[in-house]
Amino acid sequence: MKALLLTVATLVPGALCAQGLVDAAVEKKVDALLRQMSLEEKVGQLNQYSSNLDLTGPAPTQGAQKEMFDQVRQGKLGSLLNVTGAEATRKAQELAVEGSRLKIPLIFGLDVIHGYRTMFPVPLGEAASFDLALIERSARVAATEAAAAGVHWTFAPMVDIARDARWGRVMEGAGEDPFLGAQVAAARVRGFQGKDLAAIDTIAACVKHYAGYGFGQAGRDYNTVDLSEHTLRNVVLPPFKAAVDAGVATAMNSFNEIGGVPATGSVHLQREILKGEWGFAGFVVSDWGSIGEMVPHGYVENLEQAARVAMVAGSDMDMESRAYVSHLLGLVRSGAVDEKLVDDAVRRVLRVKFRLGLFDDPYRYSDAAREQRVLADPTHQTAALEVARASIVLLKNEGGLLPLDKGARTIAVIGPLAADKDSPLGGWRAQAQSNSAVSLLEGIQAAVSPATRVVHAEGAKLAKGRRGFVFELTFNTDDRSGFAAAVEAARGADVVVMGLGEDGFQTGEGRSQVDIGLKGLQEELLRAVLEVNKKVVVVLMNGRPLAIPGVVEAVSAVVEAWHGGSQAGHAIAQVLFGHYNPSGKLPMSFPRHVGQLPFSYDHKSTGRPNPVPMVFWSHYTDAPNEPQFPFGFGLSYTTFSYSDPLLSAAEMSRDGELRVSVTLTNSGSRAGAEVAQLYVRDLVGSVTRPVKELKGFQKVELAAGESREVVFTLKASDLAFYTAAGRWEAEPGAFKVFVGGNSRDLKGAGFSLR
Ligand code: NOJ
Repeated sequence: MKALLLTVATLVPGALCAQGLVDAAVEKKVDALLRQMSLEEKVGQLNQYSSNLDLTGPAPTQGAQKEMFDQVRQGKLGSLLNVTGAEATRKAQELAVEGSRLKIPLIFGLDVIHGYRTMFPVPLGEAASFDLALIERSARVAATEAAAAGVHWTFAPMVDIARDARWGRVMEGAGEDPFLGAQVAAARVRGFQGKDLAAIDTIAACVKHYAGYGFGQAGRDYNTVDLSEHTLRNVVLPPFKAAVDAGVATAMNSFNEIGGVPATGSVHLQREILKGEWGFAGFVVSDWGSIGEMVPHGYVENLEQAARVAMVAGSDMDMESRAYVSHLLGLVRSGAVDEKLVDDAVRRVLRVKFRLGLFDDPYRYSDAAREQRVLADPTHQTAALEVARASIVLLKNEGGLLPLDKGARTIAVIGPLAADKDSPLGGWRAQAQSNSAVSLLEGIQAAVSPATRVVHAEGAKLAKGRRGFVFELTFNTDDRSGFAAAVEAARGADVVVMGLGEDGFQTGEGRSQVDIGLKGLQEELLRAVLEVNKKVVVVLMNGRPLAIPGVVEAVSAVVEAWHGGSQAGHAIAQVLFGHYNPSGKLPMSFPRHVGQLPFSYDHKSTGRPNPVPMVFWSHYTDAPNEPQFPFGFGLSYTTFSYSDPLLSAAEMSRDGELRVSVTLTNSGSRAGAEVAQLYVRDLVGSVTRPVKELKGFQKVELAAGESREVVFTLKASDLAFYTAAGRWEAEPGAFKVFVGGNSRDLKGAGFSLR
């Protein structure tokens, strides 16, 4: 009962207009429509099914398809996911608009995570660019393509903070840091939604998975989450809040329980925080079946109870549980659910449909001619190339092996991913055509002069058998038949480029691993190649941080290229040959060992942080505490040096500002870009504070030898956190501020907040 009272109190959100979702004229139309709707029709708006059925094909033969069509005509369905293409979406829309009594259009949703047809790097890779304008552009292109194919709504951005690389979904987010995560979340929302949701090239975004999904125990997908309010507020929620502030139209809740309550049934998360404190005016869609999954969670006895709990908690739309369509009507009629809650949920859904312009013209996004034109737009490939190369992180370059000598006579390109045209497309490839990426081999072939011979040998396959979105991968652990040819190719080459890493379907949903090294025979192949040629550049293509200390040790150069999208091969080649000077920085630390996980650079100090000549300090006895490559790390073909930071004052008032400036110098011999990073440490708090937290970054391009003053401005609000008093505010006291090129190598100064 308590929950029910709370919910009614939070029906009317506060700061709605700031998010741009609420407009008086639209609200009037929503109210007028709501008044005409029967309870059945209201429930219909909250019901979403997936359709992989061929809506453009021959007349439906399957019962399921007929049933679905009937439900659309009866107004029992508000949304479909996984219908794509202008023609298919138009046909489905016709059923709703011409078949149903109130002609309420359907909203079509799809996972457009890192591109629709043109693929961009996986989001974790994109975050490595630390370039918000590029990240926004990538979402803009994805939205333009999706909107032209009749899609109204993407289930992105995924903003789950992720600190455990065992979790396969780390590739979908922006990594371990809440500040970077918040900036990237807002950039992606801006990119998908543009300035006007009603424009025909924008789509509604959906911030997900709300909340805590990235903290599943031991990195296992869907696993139990037990988070303190402290970590929830300080670490998990900031990117969600940033997306809401950026005007995100929808949110998706998550599969996990959190502190004993499934997120889908959480009044605290959905009613109190999201819709209450933050005034979110859009709607919340459940994750796939997550309402029904409250039964196996052991939170409710059956689907009917699940429907009640989810509705009371503020889950507005039911994705694929069929809980609302089966039970909500009865629950309202019996008085178990207040109809006001249903009205509020429907109002939120209709609000977004109106804002998308669907009531003005339900077919406006489904234009086959536009679809054809937009999907073939060559500027999208150019954008994909720019984003892919900016996402590449140079992890090691000893002895200046890179950039590669343009006069090389023979380059051997070896490894299971060297000629792979599919894996670079990544794990959430929407409507990308299989095998459509530029491979590493093709990129190198296109970049060299006719005087250079490029020889290729796969060496060993990474996986065997079926691969794909829903299949478990089987790795190749015994077929070495390609080793001899690879060794032969390496023997005669001036330099070897090895494409190693992960299959495109090795990260993503349901793809947790206990081991985050190189799978299959990859390391063995590398060792065999190293026997005959020491000049080896490892190009990693992967969706998660890898723990590969042996590999890093063994070779002179390591390039982290992620699953880089449609243009991956060209982007990597531009970096390898120095046509593009890499500037990416890691958005997630790379551990030395899986046993260090979960890990983040912004950990707390502990009471025993420092080494003592006994065992009694916080450490591992068999490995260092430090990761292999820290958050924010990435090299360049030039070098940068930082002066000590200069502060504009030693004290800062609550309403004042503090300027932190450093002189950044390109101390090498090539032009390059550096991501200058600002970190802060709050020395003492009402709750303990991290050893450092990112609070700003700037990407600065400098010619060889050039210096520039880089200025960061800090406000008290930048120092705010969720205090012991349960308030989001800064506490007075002493702070340290650090500036540098990664989270480890920093120069510091001190100030205090009055
Ligand atoms: C389940 C995933 O968790 C979610 O991220 C996705 O949007 C839905 N499936 C729909 O495909």
